[in-house]
This record gives sequence, structure tokens and C-alpha cells, in this order.
Amino acid sequence: MKLWSGRFQKEADKTTNDFNSSIATDGRMFAEDIDGSVAHAAMLGAKGIIPAQDCAAIIAGLGELKAELAAGALTLDPDAEDIHTFIEQQLTVRIGDAGKRLHTGRSRNDQVATDIRLYLRGQCAELREQLTGLIAALRAKGDEYPGAVMPGYTHLQRAQPILFANHLLAYEEMFRRDLGRLEDAARRMNVSPLGSGALAGTGYPIDRAMTAAALGFDGFTASTLDGVSDRDFCIELSAALSLVMVHLSRLSEELILWCSWEFKFIELDDAFATGSSIMPQKKNPDLAELIRGKSGRVFGDLMGLLTMMKGLPLAYNKDMQEDKDAIFDAFDTVRLCLTAAVPMLATMTVLPENMRKAAAAGFINATDCADYLVGKGLPFRDAYKASGTLVARCIAAGLTLETLPLAEYRDVCPDFEADVFAFIALEACVIRRQQ
Ligand code: ARG
Repeated sequence: MKLWSGRFQKEADKTTNDFNSSIATDGRMFAEDIDGSVAHAAMLGAKGIIPAQDCAAIIAGLGELKAELAAGALTLDPDAEDIHTFIEQQLTVRIGDAGKRLHTGRSRNDQVATDIRLYLRGQCAELREQLTGLIAALRAKGDEYPGAVMPGYTHLQRAQPILFANHLLAYEEMFRRDLGRLEDAARRMNVSPLGSGALAGTGYPIDRAMTAAALGFDGFTASTLDGVSDRDFCIELSAALSLVMVHLSRLSEELILWCSWEFKFIELDDAFATGSSIMPQKKNPDLAELIRGKSGRVFGDLMGLLTMMKGLPLAYNKDMQEDKDAIFDAFDTVRLCLTAAVPMLATMTVLPENMRKAAAAGFINATDCADYLVGKGLPFRDAYKASGTLVARCIAAGLTLETLPLAEYRDVCPDFEADVFAFIALEACVIRRQQ
């Protein structure tokens, strides 16, 4: 039986019933839906809008439902229209007429808006914990190899020598910004739409501050129309999640490059790599590739939400039921990726000798060679040209700046002295820049 059965002469068509139903997606919000209903019922009781004994029966009945659903003793009815309908109907089956009073002064429109905010608040907290774990893993990996020097790149060309730990620090910074964005969005989201009713509020003397406080919100929404039809928080969060995926994808791309034979800067732990069905020698970075690939899903979720919202007139429209599929998928995907990324990173072995070897090739200290001459009083542009000439001579002779004889240096510029070699040593270059 539908909630709206009074107005209708026919049962809903089975095909469209499935099409219309969202319980497969919103069923996961059962605890938040019940928490919201408990707060609403307690407020209705406190304000004398429903009798005290009905209020008590509702709260007790909801408590039992929550425990049974959490324990798996009660399963969701896939034919129910949504989680809100299912719980109200179950409650009424159990406690009778008192259950029919629960929806006084409330609509599923303010109810669902409340539930999503509560559910996503929990998701944000859990994700923040995972991101903090990732940041700790990056820091720990850098600390394991404090002196490891590697080539820093621009255009994927060897540019200047850097510390491996500083390379990881760049990712730490990205994920710290992600944490900040999630915190901002979660704070903005933390206002209660409960009491907005279907769109125009309610004529009952409800206490919105009371339900907001009971549910841990910082306050309640000012506009009832906006309260039921705002999904900015889903979009903001999926944008923040998209950036997490951009950062995870960039990190994955580097790990994929680094574990190739062309680089061999790292070795992934066997437990976090995969083999090939045909090529016995292969050890593939599938997890990192999947993370890189899954970024597209999360960007798609963001695009879906933006597109879903852009043409909607005020206030609630059923289009908005699509919000949960998108934002839940975005959270699920990011959280799954982090579950793989953190141990993959924590267990990988770094090969500092290979990093150093790569840094020692490619004239990565040519800028420092120019800086040496600047120290002798030359203008930078002249020093740059002299250093470039030396690089050209090295290439012609098959040498490096470290192995090119001092006589060649002095031939290009007489200001060079024997101490140039100490000046352009990789570690000296790194230390001087105090990254
Ligand atoms: N399942 C709906 C959703 O997720 C709940 C709100 C339904 N409201 C309505 N007026 N049909 O958006």
C-alpha cells in the first residue's frame, strides 16, 4: 500500500514501481532516517503536538527497528518506495496508530534532505580519518629514506636534484588541502533542513532548534524552499572528492612510472602487485592503475550532480533522488581507493641508488654550475650560457659535468676553479636549496 493511496484508484504499475523506488540506494541511510525520526517525534511530544504516550511508543518502536536493521534481523523490502516509507510502514505495523502520527508536520522532502546530511557527515568523518592515514604513510615513507636524492622533473625531463622526501611532501600538501576542503564543506552542510516540510514549512508549532540540536546540527536552514531543494553540499563534496582523486591519480601515475624498468625507483610489495596470465616475468601495478582509472567515475558523479540540478525549478523535484547514487558512489570510490593506496604506499620499497643514478645523469646540476659563476660575479645570463656550453661539450665527449676535466671548464670561463666539483655535487645542490 502506497503512502498516498487515498488519492489513487489503482496500484502502481510494477515496472514503474521499480523505476520509482530508491530503496536500493537510500536503504543504507536507515540509521540516519531513524535518528531523524526520533528527534522529530521527541519534539512533537515535547511541544504537545502528539500525545506523550504515542511519542514514547514511536521512539521505542524506532529503537527496536534500528537495532534489528543493524543486526540484519530485519531486511529491507525492495518493493518499498524508499527508506522513509519502509520505516514508517514497519513502525505502524508494530505499534499501530501511534506510528501514523510520526509524519505530523514533516514531509519526506525535509526528511530526505536531513538524512543525506547526517549520512554524509559520517562519511566525511571517516574519509578524513583515511586521508590522515595517507598523509601519515607519505610522511613515514619519506622519513624512511631521509637522504635519498632523486631527479626532480619538469616536462618529465630531469630538471634539478631533489630529496625523495620532498617529492612526497608535495603530495602531503595536496591531501592536507583536501582535508581542509572536506572540513569546510562538512561545516557548511551541518545545518538542519528539518521543519521545512514539503517546501513551505508547517503550521504546527514545531521547534526547529530542538530537532537541530538533537541531531548535532549547528543550526537550521533559514529558507524552507532552499532547505528541501538545496543539494549544493553534494556538489561541493563531490568536487572535493574529485580533487582527492586528481591527487591520488597523479600519485598513482608516478608510482606506475617509478616501478617500470625504465625508472626502477621503487619496488611494489608482491602483496600489492599483480601478475600476467601469459608473461611470466610481469609484475604489474594494477592497484595504482585502477586508482588512476577510477578517478573518472568520481568526476562523472560531479558532472551528473551539476547537470541534475542546473534546470530544476524550486523546490523539490524527483530528479533529486538521483543525488544519492552519485554522491554515495563518489564516497565509496574514494574510500575504496584509499583502502588500497595506503598499504600499497606503506609497503613499497624505495631504491635510492637507482634514484641517485638517474639524478647523476642528465646534467641535473647545470643550474648550480651557472650559480657557481654568479657567485664569482658573472651576470646570471652569461653564467647560464657558459654552463650550457659545458653541457654541450659533455654531450659531445660522452661525459658528465662531474667527469668533465677542469681544463674544459676554464677554457669556457676562466672563473672556474677546482672547487666547482664540490659545488655541483648532487647533495650540495640539494642542501643549498633548503627545500
Ligand atoms: N526518495 C526520495 C528522494 O530520495 C524521497 C523524497 C520523496 N519526496 C517526494 N515528494 N516524492 O528524493
